[in-house]
Amino acid sequence: MDDALAAVADPEGPAWHIEPSGPLRGDVVVSGSKNAVTKHMVAALLGDSPSTITNVPDVGDVGITADILRSIGIGVEVEGDRITITPSPEPVPRVPLEFSGLNRIPILLLGPLLHRAHEAFVPLVGGDRIGRRPIDFHVSALQQMGAELELHDNGITARMAGRLKGTRITLPYPSVGATETVILSAVLAEGRTVIHNAATEPEVVELALFLQRMGALIALRPDRRIVIDGVESLTGASARLAGDRLEAFSYLVAGLMTGGQVRVGGCHQDRLVTAINTLQRMGARVEITDDWITASAVQLHPAAVQTDTHPGFMTDWQPPLIVLMTQADGMSVLHETVYEDRLGYVDAIKAMGGEVELFDTCLGGPACRFHDSSAKHSAVVRGVSKLHGADVTIPDVRAGFSSVIAAAAAEGASTLHGIHHLERGYDRPFETLRSLGLNLTRT
Ligand code: EPU
Repeated sequence: MDDALAAVADPEGPAWHIEPSGPLRGDVVVSGSKNAVTKHMVAALLGDSPSTITNVPDVGDVGITADILRSIGIGVEVEGDRITITPSPEPVPRVPLEFSGLNRIPILLLGPLLHRAHEAFVPLVGGDRIGRRPIDFHVSALQQMGAELELHDNGITARMAGRLKGTRITLPYPSVGATETVILSAVLAEGRTVIHNAATEPEVVELALFLQRMGALIALRPDRRIVIDGVESLTGASARLAGDRLEAFSYLVAGLMTGGQVRVGGCHQDRLVTAINTLQRMGARVEITDDWITASAVQLHPAAVQTDTHPGFMTDWQPPLIVLMTQADGMSVLHETVYEDRLGYVDAIKAMGGEVELFDTCLGGPACRFHDSSAKHSAVVRGVSKLHGADVTIPDVRAGFSSVIAAAAAEGASTLHGIHHLERGYDRPFETLRSLGLNLTRT
């Protein structure tokens, strides 16, 4: 386990204390998404002039990524919700080992650094403790583009004599990160790159749109194909990030969970179609205008939900949903198909009285990648559970929020350890939750 992940288990670290607070009510305007901003920051490296990103969320991942970029000689200036990135024609092609295991960004730097320096070293990636988080698709794609890669215990070394070469790359699964690695590598490569089975998550498309503004030739084709014709150079560009769909869903659920009502702004309906549909099918009343989405419910009903790639029900919405299912009047089921190990946090929900059972029996068909594995990727949730306060440790960012909303709806006080995960992925969660009426203190 790397240092960042070891910190998760530290019960002595900063914690949140949550007292019963009644229904959470109020407005939350979400900022740009965590999973888009850091990729835009990497893309900006490829320009010959500065780029500006606005509506940047105040999340730990931005600070980590800014430090990574500064460590390789890139200028990063943060002013409120605006970041200006000044690329260097000759960056240091070695990301220091101290950034090992902090987030998923170093692996995305391989392609851009190869373009600038023809060699690169990046430490092994980290991120959340969900599944194995392999990088084999990234490695294979870069090799297919001509890079020579060596995998070491602590990181990856890459070399490329000339420009990376465009080619046809078929991803074994539509991985968000691997699609981004190929896009970031292909925009300045020689010739045409065609990605088959590409991820089409809104954050991936947002990255493609930003690169298009920088002068990249990117075509989004039907059937998960992205076609990129490499260009000689890119210029800096400006973009305002679209609202974080994970954060938006989390706050809608926080309102529903406590019998309150949260009105979420800053994230357009089209990024939440499947989430809204799921809440509606569970009996929530969802009001939608051009600016706001509001959810409320008298009594929630059970649901059968499967996580999937976009436009399916995204895996990051799953932890808040499972907590919400504990308040539905009957038996719900959840089948996780993106990560084989993303239900570990359920122990925390059970410790609070949630009736959730995990099974390695696959609730999907043989098409599920985890069908024949022993991965506990199916959950059965019985509601309505009376939740009670508990002392729990948060294992990852989205699971962390689910513990918070469970604690918000519980009888009795809770203490949540490992809250740095929440602060890495949510924009000022402490202040936002308090503004909704949550009786929350830092300990
Ligand atoms: N995979 C491989 N090999 C690879 C890459 C991925 O087998 O080389 C597998 C993974 O193990 C997983 C599946 O492919 O089973 C999907 O992983 P993907 O690459 O799509 O995930 P990611 O790019 O590492 C991003 C988000 C995650 C989000 C997933 C899925 C970022 C920084 N992270 O991760 O967000 O869950 O896509 O949408 O963009 C979060 O925000 O809390 C979070 C974890």
